[in-house]
Amino acid sequence: MRSKIVAGNWKMNKNLEETLVLLAQLSAKMGETDAEVMVAPTFVNLAQAVQAVKGSPIEVMAQNMHFAESGAYTGEISADMLLGVGIKTVIIGHSERRAYFGETDAILEKKVKAALAKNLRVMFCFGEELKDRKEGNHFNLVESQLKNALFSLDAGAWKHLVLAYEPVWAIGTGETASPGQAQEMHAFIRKTIANAYGADIANGVSILYGGSVKPGNAAEIFSKADVDGGLIGGASLVADDFNAIIQAI
Ligand code: PGA
Repeated sequence: MRSKIVAGNWKMNKNLEETLVLLAQLSAKMGETDAEVMVAPTFVNLAQAVQAVKGSPIEVMAQNMHFAESGAYTGEISADMLLGVGIKTVIIGHSERRAYFGETDAILEKKVKAALAKNLRVMFCFGEELKDRKEGNHFNLVESQLKNALFSLDAGAWKHLVLAYEPVWAIGTGETASPGQAQEMHAFIRKTIANAYGADIANGVSILYGGSVKPGNAAEIFSKADVDGGLIGGASLVADDFNAIIQAI
């Protein structure tokens, strides 16, 4: 059985004080769930966030990392630095990193390999832009993103990967893929992985949907067979909304 996961990507939001308040609200109000619950605060707050969730079912993860072990990369963060503050999972390939920070498939492949080499779990994000969907090119694009960044990995690496399909046109726009569109793409992703690595690996990997998931639409999206949870941006910044989304799974 693959894991159900609800993950919050806090992006460049919440200072230290606000981070600790939100974590306290989340753990105080979080009901029973079978899902793994994760949140990704900004780098400077990770160490304190990890301490704050000790003893709660919430895992703190990182939003990004650099592929190099160490060295002259001003402003960057290495896998060892994340491990050093107790991080076990890192998001790689978010569309904002691709769009605003020039992260290409080739760079992302290096990051994924660097993270896995340090035994970090990787939450790998990918998804098409609106123009790709309008041109009917969304399946090809998603397939190429997977192939370019992930398909040189050994089969054994896949148990340390979580995928997050996030159509760029749905991120922070209030526009969500319909449950049918999400299921159609998730099934395609699983088939693409099965073709490359076999059905066992494809059926074992959790594939999350991301893009304007809200309390009002989460249950229907999560009910789809190949949707194993969500990566939540805006709605993860409000404890009641994030908790409602956790309950929806
Ligand atoms: P959103 O962001 O929920 O605000 O659309 C999702 C994401 O970027 O992971």
